[in-house]
Amino acid sequence: MTHTPPAPRRGWASRWTFVLAATGSAVGLGNIWKFPYITGENGGGAFVLVYLACILLVGIPVMIAEILLGRAGRRNPIDSMRTLAATSGVHPFWQIIGISGVVAGLMILSFYSVIAGWALDYIPRTASGSLAGANAAAVADAFAGLQADGRGQLIWHTAFIAMTVIIIAFGVSRGIGGTARTLMPVLFVLLLLLLGYSLAYGDFAHAVRFLFAADFSRLSASAVLIALGHAFFTLSLGMGAIMAYGAYMPPQTSIAGTALIIAALDTAVALVAGLAIFPLVFAHQLAPAAGPGLMFVTLPIAFADMTGGLYIGTAFFLLLSIAALTSAISLLEPGVAWLSERGRLGRLPASLLLGGIAWLGGIACIHSGTVFNALDFTATNILLPTGGLLIALFAGWRLRPSLLQAELGDLPPGLFRLWCLLARVIAPLGVGLVLLSGSGLLRYLWPPAG
Ligand code: TRP
Repeated sequence: MTHTPPAPRRGWASRWTFVLAATGSAVGLGNIWKFPYITGENGGGAFVLVYLACILLVGIPVMIAEILLGRAGRRNPIDSMRTLAATSGVHPFWQIIGISGVVAGLMILSFYSVIAGWALDYIPRTASGSLAGANAAAVADAFAGLQADGRGQLIWHTAFIAMTVIIIAFGVSRGIGGTARTLMPVLFVLLLLLLGYSLAYGDFAHAVRFLFAADFSRLSASAVLIALGHAFFTLSLGMGAIMAYGAYMPPQTSIAGTALIIAALDTAVALVAGLAIFPLVFAHQLAPAAGPGLMFVTLPIAFADMTGGLYIGTAFFLLLSIAALTSAISLLEPGVAWLSERGRLGRLPASLLLGGIAWLGGIACIHSGTVFNALDFTATNILLPTGGLLIALFAGWRLRPSLLQAELGDLPPGLFRLWCLLARVIAPLGVGLVLLSGSGLLRYLWPPAG
């Protein structure tokens, strides 16, 4: 008697798994330290308003475009774009979106994994109490020591890439979906725990003023561009990550509604992260430092001299590591889906191969700040905006109308026309501006005041 087993389910277990996986991709290092910091520096509430406008006018329309291209193509970003271009009767050039996305993903993963490695290192470092009671200079020395310790960074970077590779090798449903369903609730609980602690013991009023008092005089043209660029990075747009995830989305789910939920969750996490972090910084009379210093020096100084700092600090670095891991897997998935769907490589060898490339890139980043910054700059400021621009233009102007109708047909006509306007005109103009500013051209043409 022969019994054919059902074909393995190649998709998310449910709509909510897709939402959690995409939110896991969106919520990353960008939310937890970059957003709070750039908000404080660029006029607080005024910057938040501009950022929200960027999310609504550019981020969500481009996210809708990415999901719909993925679901219409039903394959990895490169092959999806190739078939969609063919069925729409346009030049195969458009598959460049998928190709540049695979490259951008590997470039971002290279340096992202090094920072994630620092976060992993700080879990045992904090939990063991080695920083408890340390003064500011000792905490700063500890971080400088880690940055000078190539071997130490290599170990944690390797551990992080290994976890990413293992999850990806398990596939979309069990690997990515299972991780998102397990870790995202932990992330939300840890974040609320930190928020509760900050409410109870931090200088909450000062943090609210820092983040939300709208000071329009500090809002420069460059702040608008920073907000737009960050809207893009924080929603994981422009490299096919969301397109790859969208390929497994059930056909009856509303794309626009789902994109709205993901964007709202991502924004909420960024705002709550700010409200959890800054009360501690201000309660300890510290200055909100920029970049990695905020996470790895300023906050540990606060953790070192507060009640329960051992637990709160450990929870924070666990949160940071989880946020980084669920983002990292989305950086690898487009390339792995492409290699394995071509049928030459299984998911495990494909993950090992691409993870290995990012691992080598990370080693270069550990030993050279120049490589680190060059990879960050090229991927974040050039490849992502270019990809986003092409995605909006293709979905808005080139995709066969019947395919567009099939994916967005659930929208009321007014909202559908609104999306068309945003994807065809507003988003490309906005992203074009980010590109010009990223390449430095805009600053040349229109120098910032002061
Ligand atoms: N969104 C993540 C963050 O905020 C980073 C990220 C993950 C990303 N996947 C991406 C950015 C794809 C751009 C494209 O940290």
